Amino acid sequence: MQTNPPPVGGSARTWRQAMSEALYGAQGFYRRTGAAAHFRTSPLASPLFAGAVRALATDVDTALHHPDPFDVVDVGAGGGELLEVLAAGVSARWRLTAVELRPGEHARLDWRPDLPACTGLLFANEWLDTVPCEVVQRTADGVRLVLEDGSLGPAPGTPEMRWLARWWPLRRIGDLAEVGRPRDEAWAAAVGRLRRGVAVAVDYDHVRTARPSRGTLSGYRRGRQVTPVADGSCDLTAHVALDACAAAAEAAHPDSVRASLLTTQRRALRALGLDATPVPAYAGDPMAHLRALADAGQVAELLDPAGLGGFGWLAQSVGAGPPPLLAEVTTLLR
Ligand SMILES: C[S@@+](CC[C@H](N)C(=O)[O-])C[C@H]1O[C@@H](n2cnc3c(N)ncnc32)[C@H](O)[C@@H]1O
Repeated sequence: MQTNPPPVGGSARTWRQAMSEALYGAQGFYRRTGAAAHFRTSPLASPLFAGAVRALATDVDTALHHPDPFDVVDVGAGGGELLEVLAAGVSARWRLTAVELRPGEHARLDWRPDLPACTGLLFANEWLDTVPCEVVQRTADGVRLVLEDGSLGPAPGTPEMRWLARWWPLRRIGDLAEVGRPRDEAWAAAVGRLRRGVAVAVDYDHVRTARPSRGTLSGYRRGRQVTPVADGSCDLTAHVALDACAAAAEAAHPDSVRASLLTTQRRALRALGLDATPVPAYAGDPMAHLRALADAGQVAELLDPAGLGGFGWLAQSVGAGPPPLLAEVTTLLR
């Protein structure tokens, strides 16, 4: 789904070129390894996350009047951890598809490298932040591309400048931004594969009224945040302008995208039934008490507003109304 950006002159690559090769080239990070070895996402933090996504899928299935098959498609599925847990006890009518560059092993899942046409729930947890993008900086000479060695390259092209003007205007000299256009395109293409249902993107995000001024490009290796180096040794990620992604999908599919909702993971998971409840007093069953303590810790991690709970959830409904469970708690963009 990623397209290679055209090269610029000189030897240092732009960040979009460098990220593309370092993550997805022949020896790229994601060709050799998976998320689980390097960082902690919500599906890896707790099976309770998959339980909440199952509740959302059930809600969508009901709203669509139980189509056969009902698809749950995980885009950028990693090791399939989310679907593996979600699969437990669901109807044989549900078709579970993991879209991933390297196929995994869970037999109940259909593994494929590209997005199928589908009807149901399309879910992408921490996929868009790994879609390569340019980094730019405002200088006294105008906006310039930042290259992987930290030097400045030429001015970005017209499409990037248009995106910046609309979504991330750089007001002060020195301000940095990541140009979200490739994420918009990737998301709009993904939403385009949904015939009917709901598409959800979950990621570190920001919106136009509160973009960071210093940029967010980061590296992650073996559980630690590291200086981003495009040599394939670490993940490379930048926060996602989910409001721009929403608008791109609406513009690309004006007749089918009916509603766009944007909220935080904390609010979304609470609406889906996951909430912090006090651990009951010890009642004589040590294993049950330990499980309750572990669950409480995991819920707190998933809802933490300064961590995973602060992630953005963008839900867009296609050919149907918004998912009833989420509709009440989210900011309606459209
Ligand atoms: C940050 S990891 C998230 C993994 C998983 N969703 C989770 O939350 O634990 C991003 C994943 O997206 C996958 N990915 C990125 N671009 C992809 C593409 N175009 N097609 C399929 N998978 C892709 C990567 O291989 C990687 O496993």
